Amino acid sequence: MEERSRLAVLGAGHVGPVIARLAVRAGYPLAIATSGSPEDIALITELVIPGAQPRWAADAVADAGIVVLAIPLNRFGDIDPGMLNGKLVVDAMNYWPASDGVLKAFEDAGSSEIVAGRLAGSAVVKALNHIGYHELEDRARPAGAPDRRAAGVAGDDPAAVATIAGLIDGIGYDPVRLETLRAGRVLEPGRPVFGVVLPLDEFERAVRVGARSLA
Ligand SMILES: NC(=O)c1ccc[n+]([C@@H]2O[C@H](COP(=O)([O-])OP(=O)(O)OC[C@H]3O[C@@H](n4cnc5c(N)ncnc54)[C@H](OP(=O)(O)O)[C@@H]3O)[C@@H](O)[C@H]2O)c1
Repeated sequence: MEERSRLAVLGAGHVGPVIARLAVRAGYPLAIATSGSPEDIALITELVIPGAQPRWAADAVADAGIVVLAIPLNRFGDIDPGMLNGKLVVDAMNYWPASDGVLKAFEDAGSSEIVAGRLAGSAVVKALNHIGYHELEDRARPAGAPDRRAAGVAGDDPAAVATIAGLIDGIGYDPVRLETLRAGRVLEPGRPVFGVVLPLDEFERAVRVGARSLA
């Protein structure tokens, strides 16, 4: 098997452990972290993400090529952008005013564009944000399975998008590439593919419809 990039998943709440479990199964070496001590998540990591390492966030990130942000958007401001310099960052976050509170900075544009603006030294790709954590795990299928579903991958850096498309494929979804973070707004809450898990043809159709409403 081709050597996989090392992943750091920041966030060990609902979706972080599912992303981590799928990625470990796909062969990615991986560490998971919260804002606190790895000791706090050692047992849960051993039980629910066998093969993953609980680490301090800074250590997990330092050794990783790919960093998945699976934290609430209202905690994003706690992340030091310098820590993520040179990393490929997967933004799995969503802006949910009902739980995040109103975040003025995120009111008028796509959330990943705002995230990327703050992480100027990173390549930011929007992915893994639009499927609920239960379904993300339950609907994952190997390539070629007749009931495989699709997942979006959006970014301004084609090489980074290609790398994350490989990750999405590896964890069990047909990747659908969107060539800019702006185009990735179709993956956000309230858009046609958010919260529904669609086969490739239906996903592509929904993205086209969503794109027209963005124009
Ligand atoms: N839930 C879903 O089905 C789902 C699916 C796709 C995408 N998302 C998106 O993913 C994000 C997380 O959702 P969630 O439901 O998993 O949230 P959650 O259950 O509240 O978990 C958030 C996790 O982030 C950690 N965290 C907070 N600040 C951190 C920091 N600075 N560094 C490292 N870890 C930090 C928290 O741990 P500490 O507080 O202990 O640090 C906690 O483990 C949201 O933006 C959400 O929209 C969610």
